[in-house]
Amino acid sequence: MDFQISSVTSPSRQRKVHALAHQHITGYGSPSHVKRERATYERDLRTAFSGESVPEGDFIGTVASDSGDLIGGVIIEHCAPRPLLRSSPETGRLYAQHHRNLSGMFVVPEYQGQGIASLLLETAYQVVREQGARYIEGFVDIRHPQAVRVYKHAGFTVTPLNQGLPPREPTQFTIHHPSGINGYWFYRDLYQ
Ligand SMILES: CC(C)(COP(=O)(O)OP(=O)(O)OC[C@H]1O[C@@H](n2cnc3c(N)ncnc32)[C@H](O)[C@@H]1OP(=O)(O)O)[C@@H](O)C(=O)NCCC(=O)NCCS
Repeated sequence: MDFQISSVTSPSRQRKVHALAHQHITGYGSPSHVKRERATYERDLRTAFSGESVPEGDFIGTVASDSGDLIGGVIIEHCAPRPLLRSSPETGRLYAQHHRNLSGMFVVPEYQGQGIASLLLETAYQVVREQGARYIEGFVDIRHPQAVRVYKHAGFTVTPLNQGLPPREPTQFTIHHPSGINGYWFYRDLYQ
């Protein structure tokens, strides 16, 4: 089957993708939790940009089966750390311009192993480059070893268990691993 990626813009369809992500990804919040968190984050982001336009950041790409069922998705978002946005808005703005969070990716079990995740990632890279950002990064729960393999094959650097993300240009800001969850952080520099 020849899989096609579609960008999802309708709010009801986006909610469906978040619901499927919640169903398939360990640690991914419920759609209502994600919505609440996002609203707070976006308020902090707008405050840090204080009147300037906030760069594009959000993207949801999906794959449907021949019969139209949703079988895979990838969710990309801004990811400036909120304490940074609040304490140092200038650095927070830089982080928001250069970094994107791969906050969720899933393929339903019946369709796994056919290269759909690789295709979703290719699309994500292209979108993030078009947005003018440099890094894609994220966190994967220790209970998803298959995802860790996919990220490594796709060119991500995966950090050792529970180690957070290293400082990188231009902000040199370190993301520390929070306690209470176990897993791996991953990142890719799209300029390299
Ligand atoms: C992680 C996940 C998204 C991968 O999706 P996928 O579509 O199966 O991934 P791919 O098919 O691109 O790659 C998976 C494997 O199939 C292989 N593959 C790729 N194309 C193939 C094909 N046409 N035929 C057979 N195998 C193929 C890949 O080489 C890869 O092998 P590897 O495990 O040795 O790396 C999926 O397993 C999943 O949804 N897991 C649960 C949720 C999750 O962990 N999400 C990530 C955390 S955010």
